[in-house]
Amino acid sequence: MPRVTTTLLKEKKARKEKITMLTAYDYSMAVMEDEAGIDVILVGDSLGNVVLGYDSTLPVTMDDMIHHTRAVARGARNSLVVGDMPFLSYHVSIPEAVRNAGRFIQEGGAQAVKLEGGVERVDTIKAILDAQIPVMGHIGLTPQSVHQFGGFKVQGKDMETAAKLIRDAKALDEAGVFSIVLECVPAPLARRITEEVSVPTIGIGAGPDCDGQVLVINDILGLYKGFTPKFVKRYADLHPLVAQALQAYKEDVESGAFPATEHCFAMKEEVLEKLY
Ligand code: KIV
Repeated sequence: MPRVTTTLLKEKKARKEKITMLTAYDYSMAVMEDEAGIDVILVGDSLGNVVLGYDSTLPVTMDDMIHHTRAVARGARNSLVVGDMPFLSYHVSIPEAVRNAGRFIQEGGAQAVKLEGGVERVDTIKAILDAQIPVMGHIGLTPQSVHQFGGFKVQGKDMETAAKLIRDAKALDEAGVFSIVLECVPAPLARRITEEVSVPTIGIGAGPDCDGQVLVINDILGLYKGFTPKFVKRYADLHPLVAQALQAYKEDVESGAFPATEHCFAMKEEVLEKLY
């Protein structure tokens, strides 16, 4: 099967076929998502929350992202791999943004990058596109702006912010992004944006009318306890299963039940005897 391309994603929008996207941060999960036929694997900067244990995405560095993108790229044979540009990797200057986007392709093995923001990021996006690097946009509740938003809040509920989101989406479309993530946007607004832009929209907490959906893999697998956002559907509840397995391992080691004969390597008796 050939690798999913940005062109294929646009064709899917035209054919009204839904696009599937999930995050992954390591080789094993990338292999499983790739085998499941997920169109796009995003190495999200949600890495900061779900893998590195930070309470936001803000501390995540380019080196963190490249390290995990390389692992995912080694596992993804057919899915399109998108590297998420972390906080401050595209804000300081356009040349720095292009160089950092290039690292995802050259060192990370990704096929595209994603960055947060609308109208204010158009020049940066155009410069990255000039370097022949496909860009995915991301608007709505963009987690790197959490302090500016004053918390994690649904975006576009009033006239002013809804109109801004429509302007942002159109600006990204005109700039040449191949797709736009809409995060935590009311479903009717996401529908309107999806109708108005030429490229596929990928929703997360943006209702059923986007051209595709994305979720964080740890959320859908129920890999940790604690808060689960309203827009997440859990397809497995792995946390208690893992906890149970770890408890059983601990008990087996402590009681001597593990390792059993079948887990051990034998050697010839005469070799052993000569050692004494
Ligand atoms: O970092 C991430 O996981 C993301 C998705 C939630 C879209 O940006």
